[in-house]
Amino acid sequence: MILVLFGPPASGKGTQAARIKVRHAIAHLSTGDMLRAAIAEGTEIGKKAKAIMDEGKLVPDDVVIGIIADRITQADCTKGFVLDGFPRTLNQASALDAMLKAKALSVTHVIVMDVNEAELIKRVENRAAEARRKGDPVRPDDDPETFKKRLGVYKAETAPILPYYEKQGKIRRVDGMKPVDDVTAQIDAVLTGPAPRKSWFR
Ligand code: AP5
Repeated sequence: MILVLFGPPASGKGTQAARIKVRHAIAHLSTGDMLRAAIAEGTEIGKKAKAIMDEGKLVPDDVVIGIIADRITQADCTKGFVLDGFPRTLNQASALDAMLKAKALSVTHVIVMDVNEAELIKRVENRAAEARRKGDPVRPDDDPETFKKRLGVYKAETAPILPYYEKQGKIRRVDGMKPVDDVTAQIDAVLTGPAPRKSWFR
């Protein structure tokens, strides 16, 4: 099973991907987490990515495609994986299809988390407040102005991928406004239900 969790920043992709990993025994691949780890380790990729991420922009396609191409060859990916935050551009989506095709694999479902903008802003404010309460660092890109830029980038560069997956009949939508357990139950229903049919407007 190869899943893409798709949605705007703070829609709950990371929260649900962590649960899918445990419930369905597949690997969780978050490009955001991998890039933050590279920054923390001070690698070349981390040095390139830091300023871009802090500004709320997208890291270049070749960097993230390379990260995912390497990562999916690791042993924990043989039973499947859930992608959280990748692909984010049409280039990334077609590169993913090409790398999977080379292994005779394909994306099983693209699960789209629908959450409105007011709720996204509330969630990111809550996350920043929670970090401050615990004395943890706040994610630099959770700053309100940067978060607005991230939303703009999502609308301009990432949401336009959806028709690509619509044509493949891969899209399954869940109501991401519901409480965490409820969203998990909706995703479980997708994963145990019938495979998606081809889109009617293909
Ligand atoms: P990334 O780390 O992927 O960030 P994001 O997509 O903006 O998403 P978040 O991590 O903010 O949110 P999420 O949807 O995972 O929600 P979460 O579960 O955390 O990327 C960061 C940056 O890295 C990018 O801006 C870019 O620069 C770079 N990057 C990464 N991938 C890239 C790529 N492929 N190409 C180029 N650049 C890339 O939840 C958010 C909050 O809400 C949490 O506090 C959570 O507890 C809470 N919450 C979750 N679900 C619910 C719920 N149902 N009800 C109430 N609260 C909830």
